[in-house]
Amino acid sequence: MLKLCKRAVKHVVRRALFPHDLSHCGSLGASEYEFLKSLVERANELPGDFVEIGTLFGSTAQRLAAWKAPEKKVFAVDRFSWNPWILSPEEHERITANNLFYLTAHGHVEIVKADKNDFYRRPFAVPPALAFLDAIHT
Ligand SMILES: C[S@@+](CC[C@H](N)C(=O)[O-])C[C@H]1O[C@@H](n2cnc3c(N)ncnc32)[C@H](O)[C@@H]1O
Repeated sequence: MLKLCKRAVKHVVRRALFPHDLSHCGSLGASEYEFLKSLVERANELPGDFVEIGTLFGSTAQRLAAWKAPEKKVFAVDRFSWNPWILSPEEHERITANNLFYLTAHGHVEIVKADKNDFYRRPFAVPPALAFLDAIHT
């Protein structure tokens, strides 16, 4: 009985604090993923790597990595200043690193902890094939 009450309280608190679908995780919708995929496929024909500004937990970074040409790399830039789960910046960073572990270990993705404006000043030998700007959803 106590277990049941605890679960009910947890459910009510969680719904009050996070009324949205947590599995969505501040990422894109299905049709937006499809559109992004079509852009990646076009960008695969161009020289240069991929840049993602605003990686959050890595949902779109994983997809960019899955759709990119094998020789390309994704630079996943985030300053870990915002997340929908109210995690600390340190927790946010660790979860993202964990989610992207396979891809970073195999050189498909590089997580860059930086403010986007500092990253924009970074010199690129070859300009990116595609820059996906998703620090804010506008
Ligand atoms: C909407 S989320 C990105 C969602 C992600 N692209 C996805 O679809 O899975 C925005 C992210 O941008 C980051 N961000 C916000 N302002 C930033 C800035 N000035 N420089 C770098 N990252 C920033 C936040 O920390 C957050 O993780």
